[in-house]
Amino acid sequence: MKLLIDGANIEKIKKIYEYYAIDGVTTNPSILAAEGRHPYEVLKEIREFIGEDAELHVQVISTNADEMIEEGHKMVKELGKNTYIKIPTIPEGLKAIKALSSEGYKVTATAIYTPLQAFLAAKAGADYAAPYVNRIDNLGTNGIEVARKIHDIFKNNGFKTQILAASFKNSLQVLELCEYGVGASTIAPEIIEGLIKNTTISSAVETFVDDFEHFCGKHKTMLNCE
Ligand code: E4P
Repeated sequence: MKLLIDGANIEKIKKIYEYYAIDGVTTNPSILAAEGRHPYEVLKEIREFIGEDAELHVQVISTNADEMIEEGHKMVKELGKNTYIKIPTIPEGLKAIKALSSEGYKVTATAIYTPLQAFLAAKAGADYAAPYVNRIDNLGTNGIEVARKIHDIFKNNGFKTQILAASFKNSLQVLELCEYGVGASTIAPEIIEGLIKNTTISSAVETFVDDFEHFCGKHKTMLNCE
């Protein structure tokens, strides 16, 4: 499962990249608006930091197909070929996905709440389909089950489309999907850090250090023990 950062704050992105193996960054209009700067300024800064080979997913704002397509063209021109044009999976969006993917652009079908939306996005040629796990949970439906069903639909129909699971609010949601082997998950920086935040783990490591220091002396390691 690929792991992407769902966010646009460059400092947080840099921090997560420093510690974890990350495959790219996803944004949405709300995430970009929260930065309070020109969207292309923010996105170019992210692109420069992650490099031209990493995935950068950027969403169109228009709601009609022709304008979605134009936005997509501009995004890729400004941000490089490894930019995935995120398109909401509504009828106009499916029309745009069909056109952009047949032109050879990389497309992520987003705002997916149902397996049939994902099926139609895959038929239209999307590279990724992004089910919103937590938002689906909040509707009283099981977001993990929806994502699994989409994974099976793609596999059983021989689609090249992968899942890009999104909208995570806790570690269990992430665990369940990496166990199922979905293509990718995009996760907010705070939730990524939470995947390994566990006092039992840090306390085990502290005990190892304490035991060694009792034996060899304060601040001694395998580098300077005598
Ligand atoms: C990603 O593509 C989605 O836009 C995002 O994950 C939605 O997350 P949220 O439900 O936390 O806003």
